[in-house]
Amino acid sequence: MKMNGNTILITGGGSGIGRELALRFHALGNTAIVAGRRKEALEQTIAGREGMHAMVGNVEDPEAIAAFAKRVVAEHPALNVLINNAGIMRRENLTRTRDLRDAEETIVTNLFGPIRLTNALIDHLAARQNAVIVNVSSGLAFVPLSGTPTYNASKAAIRSYTVSLREQLRGRVEVIELAPPAH
Ligand SMILES: NC(=O)c1ccc[n+]([C@@H]2O[C@H](COP(=O)([O-])OP(=O)(O)OC[C@H]3O[C@@H](n4cnc5c(N)ncnc54)[C@H](OP(=O)(O)O)[C@@H]3O)[C@@H](O)[C@H]2O)c1
Repeated sequence: MKMNGNTILITGGGSGIGRELALRFHALGNTAIVAGRRKEALEQTIAGREGMHAMVGNVEDPEAIAAFAKRVVAEHPALNVLINNAGIMRRENLTRTRDLRDAEETIVTNLFGPIRLTNALIDHLAARQNAVIVNVSSGLAFVPLSGTPTYNASKAAIRSYTVSLREQLRGRVEVIELAPPAH
């Protein structure tokens, strides 16, 4: 991946790792578009800087993702890097019957989110020079933390998906897995 002159979309760019990636890439001379559900968090990240943009989007909702991807490409046609960073981590107790909403939301956000957003942007990205897709997995994809079982599984799944994505896009789009260690 070249380190400057890119136009980079970073999901979950309003906090944590996504915010830090956005600020560091911007400082290196890239345009950074941060996305998430909370407009105020995104606005705090960009803090009025030239070359940083905030776009509200929710990676849980398939229709919203498709509309969001169209809007990003329309407003930022130079987009050549997608960083699928948005994610949620929930503790779960597997020892008795429970409401599975946390498990379902985790899979929808952490696995289907990147799959759907990549799908919505792949035709655009594959036509760009120096295109890159970065999927953020986790050290827990390798060694699970027993208290967060669906999270670990979602990260192992996105790690595996990323291997196939890399093979299929070889020579057209660079595909990178970013696996941060635990807190
Ligand atoms: N921190 C760690 O130690 C660590 C370790 C390994 C892996 N990771 C991974 O790194 C990534 C970032 O983690 P983090 O620690 O920086 O977490 P974080 O501070 O909680 O940030 C997660 C971001 O994702 C966004 N997000 C969540 N659900 C979303 C949705 N449905 N649509 C759009 N955006 C959504 C949130 O913004 P809104 O709430 O505004 O939508 C938030 O900005 C995650 O994928 C996480 O699993 C983190």
